[in-house]
Amino acid sequence: MIRVAILTVSDGVAAGKREDTSSEVLVAWLEQRGWSLAERRVVPDEAPEIAAVLTGWADRAKLDLVLTTGGTGFGPRDVTPEATSGVLERPAPGLAEALRAAGMQSTPFAALSRGVAGIRGSCLIVNLPGSEGAVRESLEVLDRVVPHAVDLLAGRTDHS
Ligand code: MTE
Repeated sequence: MIRVAILTVSDGVAAGKREDTSSEVLVAWLEQRGWSLAERRVVPDEAPEIAAVLTGWADRAKLDLVLTTGGTGFGPRDVTPEATSGVLERPAPGLAEALRAAGMQSTPFAALSRGVAGIRGSCLIVNLPGSEGAVRESLEVLDRVVPHAVDLLAGRTDHS
């Protein structure tokens, strides 16, 4: 079973001023697929906190997939991509590009997400934008590529 963690990055959610509907969408999605929610947290838009959580989940909890939501835009406090890039060992730019390309079918603003994706150990880490709509649109891409990506990371490299 694929073990997933969800990290919400948002000053507003962390302060209890904003509802976190995006991570609810992610939880429903992974449960629907029969995957397990191993960890779930909310942090403010602070790079050291983001990096510490991602590192802990990838190195100690040995999770297969970590999805972040929020903090990918152009706002002065948006640092999720920088924090994530700092902990990635092998970037997977194609995945981030696919997410932006899918989003741009709905809105040109999808180009404003600076989200990154990549691998640390055997954990795939993917930044998603913060809005619920963006998360829903991103799931269409993840649905198609995550199972094979996780297989490959686990060493199951047979393509037959
Ligand atoms: N991606 C998709 N698929 N759909 C969207 O509606 N919104 C964009 C973009 N990506 C959007 C999207 C907008 S308006 C912003 S500002 C950026 O994601 C960054 O959002 P974030 O800072 O909440 O991560």
